[in-house]
Amino acid sequence: MSLLPLVLSWTGLGQVLLVLGSGLGAVVAFWTTRLLLRHAWYTHRLSCFSKPRANSWLLGHLGQMQSSEEGLLQVDDLVHKYKHSCSWFLGPFYHLVRLFHPDYVKPLLMAPASITMKDELIYGHLRPWLGQSLLLCNGEEWSRRRRLLTPAFHFDILKNYVAKFNTSTNTLHDKWRQVVAEGSTALEMFDHITLMTLDSLLKCAFSYDSDCQRSVSEYVSAVVELSDLIIERRHKILHHWDWFYWRTEQGKRFRKALGVVHGYGSRTGDADGQGLTDEEVQAEANTFMFAGHDTTASAISWTLYNLARHDHYQDKCRQEVMDLMQGRDRHQIEWEDLSNLPFTTMCIRESLRLHAPVQAVTRTYTRDMELPGHRTVPAGAICLVSIYGTHHNPAVWTDPHEFRPQRFDPTRTADRPSHAFIPFSSGPRNCIGQKFALAQLRVVVALTLLRFRLTPGENPDLGTGTRPGGVRRLPQLVLRAEGGLWLRVEPLNPEELEDE
Ligand code: HEM
Repeated sequence: MSLLPLVLSWTGLGQVLLVLGSGLGAVVAFWTTRLLLRHAWYTHRLSCFSKPRANSWLLGHLGQMQSSEEGLLQVDDLVHKYKHSCSWFLGPFYHLVRLFHPDYVKPLLMAPASITMKDELIYGHLRPWLGQSLLLCNGEEWSRRRRLLTPAFHFDILKNYVAKFNTSTNTLHDKWRQVVAEGSTALEMFDHITLMTLDSLLKCAFSYDSDCQRSVSEYVSAVVELSDLIIERRHKILHHWDWFYWRTEQGKRFRKALGVVHGYGSRTGDADGQGLTDEEVQAEANTFMFAGHDTTASAISWTLYNLARHDHYQDKCRQEVMDLMQGRDRHQIEWEDLSNLPFTTMCIRESLRLHAPVQAVTRTYTRDMELPGHRTVPAGAICLVSIYGTHHNPAVWTDPHEFRPQRFDPTRTADRPSHAFIPFSSGPRNCIGQKFALAQLRVVVALTLLRFRLTPGENPDLGTGTRPGGVRRLPQLVLRAEGGLWLRVEPLNPEELEDE
């Protein structure tokens, strides 16, 4: 009997549906059993770590992780209670160890890149945006790319970028003077500084003069949208499945923003691509723009915020820059000046500690990892290295929530354990752009203090702002502030500076 008449008869159809239904049931039962066995195995292997109270044996800490001020306070509590690490699980799907002590963080970050993998929980959702790029790839592929891209960040190349950092900062300051002249009392730092870092990154890495500080940037809006959506997706477990996510309203918005960002990347993707295919150059172009401009903007904004809140440190930095500029007829920071701003550099480092732009990095390992106290992280478990937690660990830092630049006095570095300060991560997968970022930070902070006095400001719409205690930190892909970071900028010697 052929299949068609069988399916067309009622009895035949019933039999076919029964077979299909049983098949589906068997697949679901197999998948569920496998998931639960895996869950039991990880729960057992991670029992050497303390476990904060979970919602249930199955759901674990699902829904307890928050990207908000409360989320950071929750990390403070964990650090206070568990000192170095604890286990954490998100349903039966993800098994994590959260680490916040240098002795625990060090063996993980210093492990060879060949056994280190970027996990899908945190990095997978970046893949549609950044492709198989340096930030996301693993193993041999990563080594090849890192080897090819490292020379682009050599000192001899960075030197040439300092003039571009000055030019982009001058544009920023011209805008500030104009806004202040029009009567604004407070400015939102992220809006202005994100455009400035994007402008300089495009100039340095792609020789592309976008004028994005002056004209409305569709690209920056799309990047902010993508960052928000990635954070939202991370918190909704159903959205982790691609086939489901792309059908949701958020998935559609993601695709739209992606179109804008990729369009921008292809315009700038004619960078020096020696040894990389067109597609690889495109992926790295997107990664450098993403990893480079948002992070640096966050670092600059929070440094200015910390100096606005501590005028004696602000004055001391300003004096240092003024001494450096003495006898010069132009306010221009040169490459050689960067090593002659010791106190300003201490303030920048302290700000990177207190308000680290990247809050955490995650990794999995292809083999078991031994940690102090005879604890072992099993292969495949996610290690969430909390940069925030390590930087605020009272076992490592005295009064960790206070802004104290003296901690970074070069004569006192021996007081600090290795891996206590890791804003750029550490080890083979550390930040390739850290020297670039630190050079830009010094140029922008020095020129800003030379030209403006900074004080805490208020968001005119909400009436809340940067008055002490008024800022609610917002840990997204980089650390931002809810409702923005508002500062008053008061031009110093306005007439003299008008002519620059
Ligand atoms: C203050 C500014 C910056 C901070 C705080 C920062 C922080 C970090 C951190 C924590 C990582 C490790 C990420 C991980 O393991 O998942 C990283 C990696 C990376 N950063 Fe940065 N970054 C900054 C600026 C830059 C700049 C300016 C660029 C490029 C122009 C850049 C490009 C990258 C790339 C490509 C990686 C991946 C490196 C690899 O895996 O080999 N970053 N950054």
